[in-house]
Amino acid sequence: MWHAAIEDAVAKTRRNLDKFGEKFPHVSSNGVYQLIDNEDWTNGFWSGILWLCYEYTGDDRFKKAAERSVASFRRRMEQHVVLDHHDIGFLYSLSSKAQWILERDEAARQLTLQAADVLLRRWREPGGYIQAWGPEGDPVEGGRIIIDCLLNLPLLYWAGEQTGDSRYQEAAVLQTEKTRRYLVRGDDSSYHTFFFDPKTGEPIGGSTHQGYTNGSTWTRGQAWGVYGFALSYRYTGESAFLETSKRMAHYFLKHLPEDHVVYWDFNVPVEESGIGSYRDSSASAIVCAGLQELLACLPEDDLDRAYFERALMNKMTSLINNYSTADEPEAEGLLKRGSYHVRGGISPDDYVIWGDYFYLEALMRLERGAGGYWYER
Ligand code: GLY
Repeated sequence: MWHAAIEDAVAKTRRNLDKFGEKFPHVSSNGVYQLIDNEDWTNGFWSGILWLCYEYTGDDRFKKAAERSVASFRRRMEQHVVLDHHDIGFLYSLSSKAQWILERDEAARQLTLQAADVLLRRWREPGGYIQAWGPEGDPVEGGRIIIDCLLNLPLLYWAGEQTGDSRYQEAAVLQTEKTRRYLVRGDDSSYHTFFFDPKTGEPIGGSTHQGYTNGSTWTRGQAWGVYGFALSYRYTGESAFLETSKRMAHYFLKHLPEDHVVYWDFNVPVEESGIGSYRDSSASAIVCAGLQELLACLPEDDLDRAYFERALMNKMTSLINNYSTADEPEAEGLLKRGSYHVRGGISPDDYVIWGDYFYLEALMRLERGAGGYWYER
């Protein structure tokens, strides 16, 4: 089953190579991807898809296209195009770091180290966190952290391993700990974002950006938590991080609809049409990759293992049967019914490139045991 789904994804990506040229797919409307320049937080996912397809097929066309995308990321770094935010990890883990992991290309390693420095520059005192968005000193954004940042941290951990410079690892560990303390609630649900006073570092409170309400749980945020804490555990061996990933996974799985694929927020009242009808298949795809990371980290005799394995199978089966475009050979995207920003009216129900990426990463893990490019293999 995984095999057929991967073959379909590879065939679609091969066709998209010609269609997309040097542009990057972002989100779609009416099933057509918006093609953008390398200037958003999402560009790395297309590179990641190309590297995954190259790894799977050995086809030089994928390799060349992936390398061209890394060249584009090099230009982006040189010209500092839209890099003043924390999503540097998403961008460079899946592009130049992937090239380093697969080809041991020294220039790609250097570019990735540069990216880690750009991310580390967002470390803020006295709060002791990585500022998510906006310029340093901004009275509001200066105090914001968001849960998505967990997936940016592997870039710092990796840079620490590569250079022996402890600053990268220290920042990543403290950010993970801050996230655990302030973004994960007592019942294992999560805030999307949390504010501190940028001047004093005092905690102010949690809120949302893409979720339903400030107190609700945005499903993609919860998914970033499941995967991100497991990745931090892999790098640090800190048991609290593994435990948090596990608890967040339990929350996610306890609140699933019948077909195992989540709506965009766990608290939005479900309805037949309107905002309560939107799914976020990308959140479920992220959790499928995250559950596999969690399972890889859990001891063999962990009592939750069978439960997580069953949940993973149910989700993947539903994604393939009910949400993938496997029976639509002409489709551009891999996974239907992703949502970017429902309340903001941005692509609430269509392909989103990170949904396609994590769907393929999860499939590749199941088929070959190889994950994405978050850590050295
Ligand atoms: N990291 C942005 C998002 O998940 O939409």
